[in-house]
Amino acid sequence: MIDKFGRNINYLRISLTDKCNLRCIYCMPPNVRFEKNYINNNLSSKDYKFIIKSMSELGITKVRFTGGEPLLHPNLSELIAFTKYECNIDDIGITTNGIGLSDIATQLKQSGLRTVNISVDSLKEYKYKTITRGGCLKEVLKSINTCLRLGIKVKINCVVINDFNDDEIYDFILMTKFNPIDVRFIELMPIGEAQPIYKRGYLNIGEIIDSMQELYKVQTNENTTAKHYMLSGAKGRVGVIAPLSCSFCQNCNRIRVTSSGTIKLCLHSKEEIDIKQYINRPMLFREVMKEIILNKPQKHHLIENQCSDTNRRMYEIGG
Ligand code: GTP
Ligand code: 5AD
Ligand code: SF4
Repeated sequence: MIDKFGRNINYLRISLTDKCNLRCIYCMPPNVRFEKNYINNNLSSKDYKFIIKSMSELGITKVRFTGGEPLLHPNLSELIAFTKYECNIDDIGITTNGIGLSDIATQLKQSGLRTVNISVDSLKEYKYKTITRGGCLKEVLKSINTCLRLGIKVKINCVVINDFNDDEIYDFILMTKFNPIDVRFIELMPIGEAQPIYKRGYLNIGEIIDSMQELYKVQTNENTTAKHYMLSGAKGRVGVIAPLSCSFCQNCNRIRVTSSGTIKLCLHSKEEIDIKQYINRPMLFREVMKEIILNKPQKHHLIENQCSDTNRRMYEIGG
């Protein structure tokens, strides 16, 4: 699918649920209830399969399942297997907090999972507990090790917040020395829960990383949000995700399905298109999707507006 700016849209991100078992302070309000066996009933697994299959026919070659927390979806493994074996899509990832991943990583790998992006904002147990409002760092580190052992590609997402975890940047960088892990530092984005803490919490990570003599820049042709660096002799890479500078928009190849069953053409745009009415109508779905894609916004307006245009929270979109 080609949009009107000539971008080839081949990467689908599906938020399987807006529920999460953590409550990161910049993402989830503390008072949102979490029910353990809750299933989103906006879209059924059958609906997701229809969407993935139709999208694969339209040229999608990469799928990422997000949330909230995608591991909470009871059919995640089945959806991954469907994506791989029924739609012939090999590039399959999840973005997860990693809680409980260790227990099901083998099954997910067998289903066809290739990459996991795991959120870790601190390597200190007490700070991790504070930022996630109760999460257990040990459990997440165990998941990372399990994935590495199974040969699942691991990227760590670390949102850097001024005066909170910026003193840990080098500890995170050292993780790349002996492990084939990408550690990506993410600049705080003024969206949802992060808006009130954005002004004092934002740090220009690009500048900090650029000033580190021991890191050198790595050129890649990957179409990703991150700019890459490396420590000499390291097994993994250091990445910087700086959404504000918008250098990524011109190559954006993404389309999103939110946990409510709408299409979001840009992470930060307001417009959403409800696609539930087109499900199980393959020809109509494909025609409508091609039309929708044409209207993908050229870029976000975070810099001009100092906040995201979307009313959605990150846990509903999945990043
Ligand atoms: P891959 O390149 O497939 O590994 O995905 P990713 O790193 O872009 O996705 P991930 O879910 O790990 O998100 C990492 C950070 O990038 C999060 O803070 C996301 O909100 C941000 N992000 C993901 N997609 C976009 C996008 O299209 N635009 C902007 N501005 N930020 C994005
Ligand atoms: N700014 C930057 N990153 C964010 N994430 C969630 N909210 C924000 C925000 N306001 C990150 C999570 C996760 C990824 C999907 O997005 O930490 O790693
Ligand atoms: Fe959950 Fe991720 Fe939001 Fe944290 S950032 S509350 S782990 S969805």
